Amino acid sequence: MYEAFQYRGHDFYCEDVALADIAEEAGTPCYVYSATAILDRFRAYDETFADVPHRILYAVKANFNLSILRLLRDAGAGFDIVSGGELYRVRQAGADPARVVFSGVGKTAREIEFALREGIHSFNCESEAELTLIDALAARAGKKAAVSVRVNPDVNPETHPYISTGLREHKFGIDITQVEEVYTRARQLRNVELKGVSCHIGSQLLDTDPIHEAVDIMLRLVDRLRGRGIPVTHLDLGGGLGIKYKPEERPPEIREFIAELLEKFRGRKLTVMVEPGRSIVGDAGVLLTRVLYRKSSLSKEFIVVDAAMTDLIRPALYGAHHEIVPLRRRPEFGEIVADVVGPVCETGDFLARDRKIANVPPGELLAVCAAGAYGFALASNYNSRPRPPEVLVEGERWRVIRRRETYEDLIRGEELQ
Ligand code: LLP
Repeated sequence: MYEAFQYRGHDFYCEDVALADIAEEAGTPCYVYSATAILDRFRAYDETFADVPHRILYAVKANFNLSILRLLRDAGAGFDIVSGGELYRVRQAGADPARVVFSGVGKTAREIEFALREGIHSFNCESEAELTLIDALAARAGKKAAVSVRVNPDVNPETHPYISTGLREHKFGIDITQVEEVYTRARQLRNVELKGVSCHIGSQLLDTDPIHEAVDIMLRLVDRLRGRGIPVTHLDLGGGLGIKYKPEERPPEIREFIAELLEKFRGRKLTVMVEPGRSIVGDAGVLLTRVLYRKSSLSKEFIVVDAAMTDLIRPALYGAHHEIVPLRRRPEFGEIVADVVGPVCETGDFLARDRKIANVPPGELLAVCAAGAYGFALASNYNSRPRPPEVLVEGERWRVIRRRETYEDLIRGEELQ
């Protein structure tokens, strides 16, 4: 696997660019992504699946920057979207609508109409009511809508409860025990074409056993549906593969994982789809930040930085761990145990807690690692903080792919009476 972020001597690099140079020029906080790493992860999926009919649908929600969408489109990716806004984005990035699949538990009529107009590949439907609505809207548009039913296979993905989705008690999909009846009833719908089945059991999965279990359940379902004369042509397995956040974590290798799965699909006359997000962009990005102040209380050491929960909310929201390293390694720094905190007025505004970290003075630069997925995507303007810029590196070149927001951006759309 291509490692984009590495020390060269004392300096932390992204590909062939010293990250300190980017921080000095683009300012901090700032997201930096490696184009080579993103393409490496995408190709790991695409090449390992080469033997069977397949589609890699990048999950746009993980990182929706237009330049990243374009990069992946040019490499042959399709897209998994969850809103009209994401459909608009992928179209702006030049994606072929025939390679777009629309997931999500609460699609509105307006979003469905938009997707029908654009001519997307298919809808992953999450309820019978949604199937009925799609049928009615397709009839009105004079179209036939291709749909898959998202199945809830009742498998425990063994991940953080907020990002588990495949258990019966979760809001997602249609219960595996009800799905055959739903398909049978849905055959009566004249403007809906039942094409596939889909599932997605959760995110940041470090153990692949639950995915294998879900795949086996889904393949048995495909056989049963085909037995009832429903011509299932594709199986969408969702996303979910985990990445390394903690140094001791051993996430599945994409190539190994897909190679293992592949055996189950050979000779089945089934197009396999996957919707990876995090495993494509997660470890291809970092968040750069500068130390503003140091302070200590009786019991704690604090490193106050210029990035906050508004830039990267994962530590605050999930207690997520992101490694934090200095952009310039100096032996004289030594190490301390500290909280790395941002400027926002919330106790939850931290990037790390009780972390063994380089004892960096104010003015030094840090990289918050593995921040390429659900980083900028979840950023907000809370405390009226402009959102940070995003930079894409390729070899020794880099460019800003989203400029830093300005104060004017903050009030756009507001009106004073
Ligand atoms: N497909 C569906 C239907 C999904 O719901 C998701 C993620 C994906 C694909 C992509 O999953 P991935 O390959 O990225 O695991 N904000 C959380 C993650 C939320 C994931 C939501 N669904 C985080 O920062 O960990």
